[in-house]
Amino acid sequence: MSTWANLGLQDSASPLMEQLIFFHDHALLILVMITILVGYLMFMLFFNSYINRFLLHGQLIEMIWTILPAIILLFIALPSLRLLYLLDEINEPSVTLKSIGHQWYWSYEYSDFNNIEFDSYMIPTNELSNDGFRLLDVDNRVVLPMNSQIRILVTAADVIHSWTIPALGVKVDGTPGRLNQTNFFINRPGLFYGQCSEICGANHSFMPIVIESVPVNYFIKWITNNMNS
Ligand code: CUA
Repeated sequence: MSTWANLGLQDSASPLMEQLIFFHDHALLILVMITILVGYLMFMLFFNSYINRFLLHGQLIEMIWTILPAIILLFIALPSLRLLYLLDEINEPSVTLKSIGHQWYWSYEYSDFNNIEFDSYMIPTNELSNDGFRLLDVDNRVVLPMNSQIRILVTAADVIHSWTIPALGVKVDGTPGRLNQTNFFINRPGLFYGQCSEICGANHSFMPIVIESVPVNYFIKWITNNMNS
């Protein structure tokens, strides 16, 4: 999760998020180089006193400063498209999780395992324990196995919500009457926090998501315990 003074992206917990961070840094580097070049040019113009009465056109420089930016844009566009299609890929998921957005909480269904279902509400500040995170912790966490391909199906019951977890690089809209699909792979254990990111009404800020990433055998224990009860 994000903590004090973390103005950049969160540390990734999935290979796709790692790629997204690489792409962000790549694009930012190009942006900084362009900004420095243009900034230098603009600054130097103030001190330029050269005048040429006969300068009316320059075919060569026009060609260069038309084609060069186009090539630079290609260096952003191609990796961007690669990522776009990579994010859409589904790689034989071993677990499917369905999450349904409501005003204002998420509910979950594990359709592969006897259709376990539960609601996940934010813990109000006055009920928070000392180690809890305000506005971020929930009563029932989503337990998922690490090092496994996970498919997530997102929908909503009332208005549009968005199931968003920055550390996993997942952001899918839950839309009433539609079922959206994406997939991810968690490569480390831990708690990963997310929030709804479609303005969905008065309590939009108070429907967080908590994913508990555990080793596969722990996940199997958790799921069998819940199937029996
Ligand atoms: Cu649900 Cu914003």
